[in-house]
Amino acid sequence: MEVNSELFRSAWSKFPTGVTVITSNDHENNVHGMTANAVLSVSNDPPMVIISVGIDRQSNSFITTNKRFGVNILSDDQTDWAEFYAMKPENRGDALPGEIRKSDNGIGILDGALTFMDCEVTEAYEVGDHTLFLGTVVYAEGQDGWPLLYHEGDYLSLNEDPD
Ligand SMILES: Cc1cc2nc3c(=O)[nH]c(=O)nc-3n(C[C@H](O)[C@H](O)[C@H](O)COP(=O)(O)O)c2cc1C
Repeated sequence: MEVNSELFRSAWSKFPTGVTVITSNDHENNVHGMTANAVLSVSNDPPMVIISVGIDRQSNSFITTNKRFGVNILSDDQTDWAEFYAMKPENRGDALPGEIRKSDNGIGILDGALTFMDCEVTEAYEVGDHTLFLGTVVYAEGQDGWPLLYHEGDYLSLNEDPD
């Protein structure tokens, strides 16, 4: 069977993941976000991560310029953030689903995210239609909670006993 992009996407939709919002800064230094699940822990010492960002994403140009990004791991009550930052930027409107503050490095932290990691880009590799940004984690914070999951186009929770 020929592996066209539709089949490839469908194959990977069977693979459940967590959900993050990658934050960066736009050219006016405003927080910009992008929903992402192509995120990988690479090294513990030093702490390093890889994110895969489509070449046509606005985030790609902001991360390439500023050489910084944030990884916000979403909790199961943050589906609205995931949906918001999966939309094309021109369709998002001005009303954010919640509060955002900035880290000491000026990177956006979504209120209520389970984990935030502040990353400096160490290397960038162009692979097909994406760029792999390898980042060193220079700051992290977090809180307890249930993660948001993504599987076959649906947002899910592991919590079988919600409040
Ligand atoms: C669950 C989910 C995961 C996604 N993961 C990625 C990803 O890892 N990399 C990517 O480039 N786009 C990913 N996307 C698509 C982007 O979120 C979407 O194209 C967004 O509009 C890009 O925003 P930007 O152009 O402002 O950067 C994902 C979308 C969803 C719904």
